[in-house]
Amino acid sequence: MAVAPVTYGASTRPPRGDYSTAREDYTCEQSWAAYGAEEHALYARLFQRQVRQMPGHACDEFVHALGQLGSKSEIPRFEDISDKLRRATRWEIVAVPGLIPERAFFSLLANRRFPVTVWLRRPEEFDYIVEPDVFHDLFGHVPLLFNPVFADYMQAFGGGGLKAEGLHALEYLARLYWYTVEFGLIATPRGLRVYGAGILSSAGETVYALTSHKPQRLPFSLERVLRTPYKIDDYQDSYFVIESFAQLFDATAPDFTPIYERVSTSAPLPLNGRLPTERVYPPNALPAGAAA
Ligand code: PHE
Ligand code: CO
Repeated sequence: MAVAPVTYGASTRPPRGDYSTAREDYTCEQSWAAYGAEEHALYARLFQRQVRQMPGHACDEFVHALGQLGSKSEIPRFEDISDKLRRATRWEIVAVPGLIPERAFFSLLANRRFPVTVWLRRPEEFDYIVEPDVFHDLFGHVPLLFNPVFADYMQAFGGGGLKAEGLHALEYLARLYWYTVEFGLIATPRGLRVYGAGILSSAGETVYALTSHKPQRLPFSLERVLRTPYKIDDYQDSYFVIESFAQLFDATAPDFTPIYERVSTSAPLPLNGRLPTERVYPPNALPAGAAA
């Protein structure tokens, strides 16, 4: 299917989702020189708005690593970030044309290579975009790859994905990805903080996830999460809270094979349901003077 090229400003970037020049492993060139001035400016606006929101919202590990993303005033060169990542945690980032097949995605993760989409959203998508773009992937995902424990979790996830595919359990593992890597919360002595990339790259959900009384915040439990479907087109009904990245790593280290068997024979849980034994974390208090 032909896709219309992005033709605003001086961008000469190939169309969104152009896989024609991708390699067999679905990686491609970033082609940094093809970004137009408007794209750099839009990236800078997205970045600056989100960076301001991070203190008090994102976990410390994320805030500390944000400086590693390089330039805030233009789309960074992936190679510059990879140089720093390799030194920090032996990860690197690779360019991809957009969403890639599950097996290709998990193979990259298993080899400590994180795929980052090359194209940037359009100005109309400033606040909301359904697919991952370069801003979501870089801003949301890359900072925590500088954390050694989280970096190991992501690699283990890649191996787990390849295994889940053989067991026809990708549906369950996708829920774990969703409720941790994309929408995870972490408890700290100063209150709840966000570590999930889907939240951290969204200005609206960053505040909602921590302070709204609408969603529930439940303690992370592996089997519970594997049984909980999610919605992709609205803020979440339930968030799962970890106490530390070590807890997440340890809870997901056991062999999932028997767990997948149990989960596949039990009914999925409602998205906003709560088990009788589950306690909820209260939302963070709003800063004095803010409206509830
Ligand atoms: N332990 C999981 C398995 O046996 C692999 C995994 C690790 C999956 C970490 C996700 C995250 O399948
Ligand atoms: Co993502």
